[in-house]
Amino acid sequence: MSDNTGGSIDNVMQESRLFPPSDAFLEGCKINSMEAYQQLYDQAAADPVKFWGDLAREELHWFEDFDTTLEWNEPYAEWFVGGKTNVSYNCLDRNLEANGDKTAIIWEGEPGDIRTFTYKELHSEVSRLANAFKKAGVEAGDVVSIYMPMVPELAFAMLACARIGAVHSVIFAGFSAESIADRNNDASAKVQLTADGGFRRGKILALKEIVDEALEKSPTVETCIVLNRTGSDVSMKDGRDIWWHELLESVDDNCPAEPLDSESPLFILYTSGSTGKPKGIKHTAAGYNLYAKKTFEWVFDIRDDDIYWCTADCGWITGHSYIVYGPLSAGATCVMFEGAPNYPAEDRFWDLVEKHKITILYTAPTAIRAFIKWGDEHVEKHDLSSLRLLGTVGEGINPEAWMWYHEKIGGERCPIVDTWWQTETGGIMMSPLPGAVPTKPGSCTKPLPGILPAILDETGEAVGENQGGMLVMTHPWPGMLRGIWGDDQRYKEQYWSKFPGSYLAGDNARCDEDGYYWIMGRIDDVINVSGHRLSTIEVESALVSHPQVAEAAAVGRKDDIKGQAVAVFVTLVDAEASDDMKQELKLHVRKEIGALAQPDDIRFTNALPKTRSGKIMRRLLRDIAEGKEAVGDTTTLEDYSVLAQLRANDE
Ligand code: WTA
Repeated sequence: MSDNTGGSIDNVMQESRLFPPSDAFLEGCKINSMEAYQQLYDQAAADPVKFWGDLAREELHWFEDFDTTLEWNEPYAEWFVGGKTNVSYNCLDRNLEANGDKTAIIWEGEPGDIRTFTYKELHSEVSRLANAFKKAGVEAGDVVSIYMPMVPELAFAMLACARIGAVHSVIFAGFSAESIADRNNDASAKVQLTADGGFRRGKILALKEIVDEALEKSPTVETCIVLNRTGSDVSMKDGRDIWWHELLESVDDNCPAEPLDSESPLFILYTSGSTGKPKGIKHTAAGYNLYAKKTFEWVFDIRDDDIYWCTADCGWITGHSYIVYGPLSAGATCVMFEGAPNYPAEDRFWDLVEKHKITILYTAPTAIRAFIKWGDEHVEKHDLSSLRLLGTVGEGINPEAWMWYHEKIGGERCPIVDTWWQTETGGIMMSPLPGAVPTKPGSCTKPLPGILPAILDETGEAVGENQGGMLVMTHPWPGMLRGIWGDDQRYKEQYWSKFPGSYLAGDNARCDEDGYYWIMGRIDDVINVSGHRLSTIEVESALVSHPQVAEAAAVGRKDDIKGQAVAVFVTLVDAEASDDMKQELKLHVRKEIGALAQPDDIRFTNALPKTRSGKIMRRLLRDIAEGKEAVGDTTTLEDYSVLAQLRANDE
């Protein structure tokens, strides 16, 4: 940890390009002017509780109406108290009448196999599976651990849990046996779902083998249900393991959705704090459902004929909120994809866009930077004219990557929604409404209606315009986490102890003269050079604006004179890694930001250490910059060889 306390953060990024939506985009757009956005925002801000209460009654099905919209005993929120609803009902049954024959899911497997499901079919699949779960002994409140490839059955399973009141804990199918066991034990999972394998870049991931190892150390798990996805040989343990298809054989698809309390737990999702053991973020039924649905509709300006594709995995919050719960409760048609963006070739995403005539694409900056590095020829092979809207999530998008996305993928006609949010927030918190808010590359623009952010300094005072500080939310919202599973103390400390009354997001941000928000990186990542507090994202964006830089990460390391020096790690597009290049990049940052941000150390690397969800692990880079062995938790590291490489390249 750095010693960066006190004061605000210096803003050194200058970005003045502004992109209003085109007339073509505005046609048919529901919220189509800044005035319309502002009116909705102001109305919500004047009385957020009434705003959300009214929306909940309009947008969700209630078996029993609620009597209190919000009970707030800081830091514990209960929304729509006394009401009974069911998330699976809201996603499925509620769509049967108007959208029964509409396609709900278009799924493409890595080998190219395609399956589609209408809302009616999805309803039937989920109902059968819910009955099968009951047969396997799953009851309301039980935790079901899900470790599966990105197949439709993964979505069915989440919805089937929701239907009967079981709580799912989806674990991304790249985690180790150890990580699965940790999560299973923390949540006291009763049932494990998995598959015989999953396809990844032409190979088969032996998921069942990993699960077998995990279950050795997961004493609470009684049953393991195994989907046949790859036809691989797996061992089945008598009395514990059962094939998915065999369990389904003797059940029908009549399974009415259980009326559940608004605040009944819907899922736990483990997220790795930058240090320490993973936190089980808890979300509950009604508030989360409303929030995922409404934010999906606002941000993606969803229309009846849209084909929407979110490229995330269901193992992350983005997959929960914007592949499954948001889009399905909004009656949308979603694409779901099992494979990797570069298999069999680097144009796989664009092949999908062209084939399925995708209109909305929601992906991550880390993927966009990879596409840039792979070269435009993969994009240019395909007709991407079906696209009308693009989105990003997961990290800040550097302005130059934004421009590439805008030009090469969006053909300069598609607005880009840069969506800022967290596993904890349940859904998007800040993002342009694409027909209303002109975009600025690198800014997530404005808060959504009903969301009240502020930026504070160490003393809890609001900082001024364009000054960086800590991002907080000053009012509860329906999608907010309801706690950390089994760890109240950590919940209170981490999010609510720094500024009483406000949710501490853990990110730094600034707000510019137009009320646009710019995320500046995690609080712990600020670099303090001679008393100037620099945001990692701004230094990185300056580097990425050099045509030869594909990706960059900036961290601080101790420096006797300046307090901290700027150490950067750079992946080049195709230039030679040389001392001349280092010099050129130093001068480039000096020109873009100024002398104080000029990197002291530059290391070239083929790849940066990332979490499995694509975020750069700056903590590890800090260790390397300081010349230390990487310590602490590396279980979420995507590719271990990267660390060895970085050390080998060390100066
Ligand atoms: C970062 C992902 C800048 C941020 C939905 C946040 C972003 C953390 C953005 C949450 C964005 C996410 N601009 N930073 N548009 N979106 N982040 O829990 O640091 O995986 O706190 O949720 O990602 O990551 P999580």
